[in-house]
Amino acid sequence: MLELFNITFKNPIWTASGVFGYGLKYKRVSRGVGAIVTKGITLKPRMGNPPPRIYETASGLINWVGLENPGVSVFCKEILPQLKEIPTRIIVNVAGFAIEEFGEIVETIGNEVDGFELNISCPNVREGGTAFGQDPKIAGQVMERVRKRTSLPLIAKLTANFCDPLRIAQACVDAGADGISLINTVYGLAYDVNNKQPLICGGLSGPAIKPFALYCVQRVREVGVPIIGIGGITSGKDAYEFMLAGASAVEVGSAILRDPYSPLRIVKELEKYMATHKSGKDLKEAR
Ligand SMILES: Cc1cc2nc3c(=O)[nH]c(=O)nc-3n(C[C@H](O)[C@H](O)[C@H](O)COP(=O)(O)O)c2cc1C
Repeated sequence: MLELFNITFKNPIWTASGVFGYGLKYKRVSRGVGAIVTKGITLKPRMGNPPPRIYETASGLINWVGLENPGVSVFCKEILPQLKEIPTRIIVNVAGFAIEEFGEIVETIGNEVDGFELNISCPNVREGGTAFGQDPKIAGQVMERVRKRTSLPLIAKLTANFCDPLRIAQACVDAGADGISLINTVYGLAYDVNNKQPLICGGLSGPAIKPFALYCVQRVREVGVPIIGIGGITSGKDAYEFMLAGASAVEVGSAILRDPYSPLRIVKELEKYMATHKSGKDLKEAR
């Protein structure tokens, strides 16, 4: 059991956004994890990008999915009622392309879920396409606006691309964030050597980014709100390392694409690790 944001979670292993849909397919997994973080929801439906959308590298994936989703109204009408039947915590991942969109989505969903994770790694299309999450001022503005529209827990999901996540995290906390999750994918590129052209340019995830993600979690721990660690977690030992770095919970991402049941295995492995290596009390001291 884990107590965060005045909510009880079954355990600290959550599914990351974008790799587990809305948790409706593998219900045994959805019931067994601490929370499902949904696929990113935008104000309007999005078709996503043309193929190729995913490319496997030596130790991770590059994806260029482009936030394909049915939009917030269809989510509320068709997906949320099914999701609410599963006995698990639901965190909705929200993506916007202008500052006000985040708040509109959150208000439309209302109090039907357990909290929101704001994906501030999206490009701010009104301001030249720089990600909201690369500029502390803009990241703070997003959080401040959303804070006014919900009393549910708000987690800011940070990018670590070309910015200092500590400054962004601090701005989000100052503007009312209850928690910080990190990291989103890292810029990545693969070439088609036959055509001498880029094959895919998108977000790198998986074991390749784990050391960097751990570093980022350790860097932002001083902000003083719960941190959710994400990046290359494939085992209970990986999850435990994130907890040593300062995370209260973790999200499993790309590992789910290889094995949808991996979060259940990771829950068990982490329990074993906690029991044999350190008690919960020691972990708090390590933070
Ligand atoms: C195919 C794919 C789709 C993703 N879609 C989203 C998304 O919609 N919103 C989001 O915040 N992160 C998204 N992510 C990022 C993941 O949630 C996670 O932050 C990242 O993959 C790092 O974790 P991992 O190394 O365990 O995969 C996506 C990742 C992948 C691989």
